[in-house]
Amino acid sequence: MNSLHELLVKRRSIRRYKDEPLDAEAVKLILEAGLMAPTSKNSRAWQFVAVDDKDMLQRLSQCKPAGAHPIAKAALAVVVAVDATKSEAWIEDASAAASYMQLQAADLGIGSCWIEVRDRYQVDGTPANEYVQELLGIPEEISVVCILSFGYPDEERRPCDTSKLHWENVHIGSYKAND
Ligand SMILES: Cc1cc2nc3c(=O)[nH]c(=O)nc-3n(C[C@H](O)[C@H](O)[C@H](O)COP(=O)(O)O)c2cc1C
Repeated sequence: MNSLHELLVKRRSIRRYKDEPLDAEAVKLILEAGLMAPTSKNSRAWQFVAVDDKDMLQRLSQCKPAGAHPIAKAALAVVVAVDATKSEAWIEDASAAASYMQLQAADLGIGSCWIEVRDRYQVDGTPANEYVQELLGIPEEISVVCILSFGYPDEERRPCDTSKLHWENVHIGSYKAND
C-alpha cells in the first residue's frame, strides 16, 4: 500500500474468506501490530488469543446469536481480551489494539472483521464474554472485548467514498448543533 490514507480508504470489513491459511509471518506482523498499540498509562494489560483450529473457530462463531458468523470460515481469529483490573481504560486499550491489527492485516492484503463480544449475550442470557472465556480457558478477570476474524478476502468491497464522510460531525473551534 502506498500511503496510510490509501489504506484507510480501502479497508472495509471483510466477512468472507478463502479456505487458505495465513502466512506465519503475516500472523506475526498482525499480532505485533496489536502489541505496539498505545495503552492508557502504558498498562499493556491486553491478552490476545490466536486461534486457527477449525473446530474452535466454529465454536467461537457461536458466541452470540447474530453477527459472529465470519469467524466460522476465517483462517484465524484473534480474541482481544484485557485484564480490566489493570487498566481503567481497558475498553479503549483493547479497541486501539484491535484497530492496529485490522490495519496491519489490510496492509498485507488480509481481510478482517471486528466481532463485538463485550456486552453481547447468548439467547439464554449468558454473556458472550463468559462463553468465550470458558471455551479458551481465559480467567474471569480478563474480559473479552472482541474477536477479530482474519482471512484472505473472498469478497470485493467498495472502498470508502470520501465524498460521503460525515463532516457534519466535525466541529471547528466549538460545538455547533447541526439541525
Ligand atoms: C465496535 C465494533 C463492533 C462491531 N461488531 C461487529 C459484529 O459483531 N459483527 C460484524 O459482522 N461486524 C461488526 N463490526 C463491523 C462494522 O459493522 C463495520 O465496521 C461497519 O459496518 C463499517 O463497515 P466497514 O468496516 O466495511 O467500513 C463492528 C465494528 C466495530 C468498530
